[in-house]
Amino acid sequence: MNDLDTLVQAAEADFAAAGTPAQLEDAKARFLGKTGRVTELLKGMSALSPEEKKTRGAAINETKQRIEAALTARRQALADAEMQAQLKAESLDVSLPGRQRGGGGLHPVSRTMERIEQIFASMGFDVADGPEIETDWHSFTALNNPENHPARSMQDTFYVDMNDEAGRPLCLRPHTSPMQVRYSRQHAARHAGADPMPEIRVIAPGRTYRVDSDATHSPMFHQCEGLWIGENVSFKDLKSVFTDFFRTFFETDDLELRFRPSFFPFTEPSAEVDIAFSSGPLKGRWLEVAGSGQVHPNVVRNFGLDPERYIGFAFGMGPDRLTMLRYGVNDLRLFFEGDLRFLAQFQ
Ligand code: PHE
Repeated sequence: MNDLDTLVQAAEADFAAAGTPAQLEDAKARFLGKTGRVTELLKGMSALSPEEKKTRGAAINETKQRIEAALTARRQALADAEMQAQLKAESLDVSLPGRQRGGGGLHPVSRTMERIEQIFASMGFDVADGPEIETDWHSFTALNNPENHPARSMQDTFYVDMNDEAGRPLCLRPHTSPMQVRYSRQHAARHAGADPMPEIRVIAPGRTYRVDSDATHSPMFHQCEGLWIGENVSFKDLKSVFTDFFRTFFETDDLELRFRPSFFPFTEPSAEVDIAFSSGPLKGRWLEVAGSGQVHPNVVRNFGLDPERYIGFAFGMGPDRLTMLRYGVNDLRLFFEGDLRFLAQFQ
């Protein structure tokens, strides 16, 4: 074996001993680098005759190619080994079933809201939406509840440190009643020439806010406002609308309704509405479900209508309370804590 074969063998052994790509690069430098052994051989040729240079040069070149081939083979072997190790470490079982995406579903209060909307829509009520950041004027003043009047504390809310374009102070609406004013003013303007004006029949569900927090009160809660105004709308109509609504909502005719005298600045007379079931777990207990009353003449005037001619009723009910009754939940806060273990039970 000549010196060149020995060199190739030495290179192969050195490359085989390199366990990592970095070690292999070091080994490469020892043979093919600027001061490597192949380079040394080429330098050693300067003393040879032209004839000898030709044969010796060809032989060294061939040696260099064999070493380069050995290097490439070892590089590939190291890369393959690394890939195998990685595949083993990250072992991926493609036959496993994928992780299911949860089905998701409607929040129980959203279900109630949808039910309320459907039932009232079937009775010919429009469904309206309005701002949660509301003017103090729509929230109180227009509803016959003047500034500094003690009745404002019935709906104590959160004030926003800003005014609207007209300079009116803003607050988080403490009830959906401002929608009575917004909707009616639009309705009156839209039907300005009509005689008589088509009746107003609307509900306005949505979020409301009050400085209140315990098992049955949350600082954010829901209300659904209702308003029916025409030339001949009376408390009798309110009672029949409510009776139909609650019987449909709770899917039972075993349900009684009672009006209890109350006070709201925007209605006169005013009443709390209670219901009682004549069977089932809540049998015989009167449960407060809404505030209501005949819309006050001052409020009808703020609608842009003549209170001598147009009359009707308004009500505000609590979808959260209805959801608690329907599903037998006794702590309102559970609805708003976002705990999936609780919420998933309603799907
Ligand atoms: N807005 C009243 C409340 O939040 C409820 C109500 C609405 C009463 C409409 C009468 C008429 O308590």
